[in-house]
Amino acid sequence: MTQVILLDPALPQQEAIDLGASIIRDGGLVAFPTETVYGLGADAMNERAIQKLFQAKGRPADNPLIVHISDRDMLDRVATGVSPQGERLIERFWPGPLTLVLKRQPEVATSLSAGLPSVAVRMPANKIALELIIAARTPIAAPSANASGRPSPTIAAHVLDDLGGRVDLILDGGPTSIGIESTVLDLTTEPPMILRPGAITREMLIELIGSVDQATSREELRRSPGTRHQHYSPRARVLLVEHRSSESIELICRERLTEGAVGFIGHTRVAIDDDRFLAIAVGSSADDYARAIYSALRELDQKGARAIVVEGISEDGKGAAVMDRLRRAASGVIE
Ligand code: TXA
Ligand code: MG
Repeated sequence: MTQVILLDPALPQQEAIDLGASIIRDGGLVAFPTETVYGLGADAMNERAIQKLFQAKGRPADNPLIVHISDRDMLDRVATGVSPQGERLIERFWPGPLTLVLKRQPEVATSLSAGLPSVAVRMPANKIALELIIAARTPIAAPSANASGRPSPTIAAHVLDDLGGRVDLILDGGPTSIGIESTVLDLTTEPPMILRPGAITREMLIELIGSVDQATSREELRRSPGTRHQHYSPRARVLLVEHRSSESIELICRERLTEGAVGFIGHTRVAIDDDRFLAIAVGSSADDYARAIYSALRELDQKGARAIVVEGISEDGKGAAVMDRLRRAASGVIE
């Protein structure tokens, strides 16, 4: 059975936090909100709990997890050899949506790192998440709380849809504020390398520590084995369209309508007078897209769309992270 408890994100009820913490300490699974997406948490130091977590998500064993901590001291229990550069990043961006790949401590559950000598760590900027880690008194491993391959959850109902019956407790703190997963930065190479773009952009990192590389897809595969798996995908076929006029998008949608219901997610207004045309309007900024995209993909799936046409945005700033997720979700791109 999965229990769901609604919490006040500004002032989380201590009884709910304590219940979550005791489940984590007993080797169970607790889903909780972070500022990016909901995470599926388990005790990072408990090998059996971590194996249970991989199973609940249906996650391939070669895709390592991110460990969540509540303060700088806790970092030393999971990682070693933090460079002065690393300390500066921590000082500036934690708590926040930046995950650092560091050398791992041997006490961390073995399967968590999928055989890598490194461990990914972050300190989430969310009160419920931080209080849960503090009360559990242990680092909490948490991948996004979706079934493997599905879009990440941004509300508790998404978690329940994917993992109901397979997670002991869901702490419902309302919608997450950012909406896409954290930036993953590998600090075990020189210069550091971005393995997954996120809300902390390459420009922000370069401004603080100088040179930072963006992984090519080959590098990404080698260093972050999980990225080879299909990601962020709804059941419908996703088609990404870039730099198109309203008329051109309309034409693309009309063609798809011959095969069944068509969803559209975008900032350009497209009106088609057909019950099987399901449009979700999103603001044109990267922040708007990040907050809305996963939820919109799930909603259109639920409404039975056979194809989903998504309008791309500029790659500037956080747009790069949004476009990264859209490209991974898409089975086709029309430029
Ligand atoms: O925002 C987030 O990061 C969310 C919330 C819940 O914190 N978590 C999340 O976890 O997105 P997950 O498991 O869905 O993504 C983890 C990413 C994967 O791309 C994985 O390959 C990479 O982090 N990763 C984990 N450990 C790594 C390591 N030791 N070396 C390289 N990449 C690693
Ligand atoms: Mg994920």
